[in-house]
Amino acid sequence: MNIQQSNQYLLQSRWAIQLALCGIVIIFLLVSGTIVLGLIPVYLTTNDVHSSTQFNELSFYTIYSSDVIYGRFQTLSDPNDLSSQLTKNMPDLSRMKTIPGEFLTATPSNKQRRQTSDSASIACEGSTELTGDLFSTKNMIELPSTCHSSTCREKYLMKYQNNIRKYNHRLNVDMVLDDSVQSNIQMAFCAFSSIDPNERFPSSACKSGTSRYIYIIDQDANFFQFNPRTSATTLITSLTCSTTAYPYSMAVQSTGTVWILFTDGNLYTFDVNTRQCQATSYVSGQEGFILFGMNFINDYSTNTELLYITSDTSNPPFRLATLDITILEISIVSYYNSKISARGELTKTLDGRLFVLFEGQPFIIAEINQTTGKILSQTPQNDLRYASDASNFAFTSYLSQFFIFVGDQTYTDIFLHDTRSKTTTNRTRISNGIVGSGVSPCL
Ligand SMILES: *[C@@H]1O[C@H](CO)[C@@H](O)[C@H](O)[C@H]1NC(C)=O
Ligand SMILES: *[C@@H]1O[C@H](CO)[C@@H](O)[C@H](O)[C@H]1NC(C)=O
Repeated sequence: MNIQQSNQYLLQSRWAIQLALCGIVIIFLLVSGTIVLGLIPVYLTTNDVHSSTQFNELSFYTIYSSDVIYGRFQTLSDPNDLSSQLTKNMPDLSRMKTIPGEFLTATPSNKQRRQTSDSASIACEGSTELTGDLFSTKNMIELPSTCHSSTCREKYLMKYQNNIRKYNHRLNVDMVLDDSVQSNIQMAFCAFSSIDPNERFPSSACKSGTSRYIYIIDQDANFFQFNPRTSATTLITSLTCSTTAYPYSMAVQSTGTVWILFTDGNLYTFDVNTRQCQATSYVSGQEGFILFGMNFINDYSTNTELLYITSDTSNPPFRLATLDITILEISIVSYYNSKISARGELTKTLDGRLFVLFEGQPFIIAEINQTTGKILSQTPQNDLRYASDASNFAFTSYLSQFFIFVGDQTYTDIFLHDTRSKTTTNRTRISNGIVGSGVSPCL
């Protein structure tokens, strides 16, 4: 803590003026420390201690990470099954009650964010490979009537939390979607919270939405809904944004607004609900960008959403840039290293990492550092081979998988790449040239 640092500084300093300054700093720290310490009981009183003195009970929330996206659209097939898993292995349940909770509109963070930060993600205690929506349960411990001291309450809290860490480390539950598709969902212990995590992550405006689809667009401006579970493709509408140009790429904002780049370099927005297209005042050609692949990335810490773009073959060197959609201005992030000379399509994973699918013989999935533009990894897709500018393609992350849409402009093969096993499988072929894809929790 700072007082210690100040003490060391005090010993080391030689000049009287510094001694005097240190004295002032120490007094300031002691005073502010007293104020902070004075505030802590107030904070605890409103949360935990108040209820525990009244009912002599402790409550907290246990947060699990899962492998499901849009988990809030799912319901437990059998609530008793989850309850029994939560209690099955617990060595001592005489004082603890657990209420199975619900999915949160939040995902685990791979960065060590402070848990109190107002972000739609939470740092798990350990690393978890399950990066889907978080799920919370509420735990209540009935304390002995004699247990009033904070030491005693802490002892019980530690005991039960350690048991949860140890015995409820992994769960496995069946859930159903409202279209009655049943799925088996993995969950892993993530963290504890003393406050209701639903208050920390207010439900998004899209909670009542009904869709869990990927949206895709073809080069003839047909806009489809693609079902990632069944591979069914459903036409929603044919866009009439432009009479002279064709769609080149597409990105979907988290709010559901679809952004489409046309072959003349103009950007349009499309509202899926009203099926209306709208021109933007974006000026093509900034920083040499006319055609590009694109995807949005949220920065929850600043509550902003930036469109990341990657250049095409017309104007090398190949580069990564951002397009700020509030001012419609492009800024270069960086140039790729010289080995990259291909068009790309961008996507982001649930844990916020940026990936590019580069066209080529073979195509390559590469992870890119969004701050530096540095290529962090490359995974060649040996079955996917098209020469420069010869293919139509699109790329979207979904759960722990990537959907790759690629064809020779007369058809599209739809591939599923599993990021864990690094295998790519061919799901189906459709007779449209898909050039853009994206997802949004609001669609
Ligand atoms: C990206 O680069 C920045 C700056 O060098 C670094 O702080 C960050 O950890 C990197 N992120 C990844 C995912 O490598
Ligand atoms: C992918 O599968 C479809 C049929 O499902 C087939 O027509 C197509 O040739 C396959 N593509 C490749 C590259 O193997």
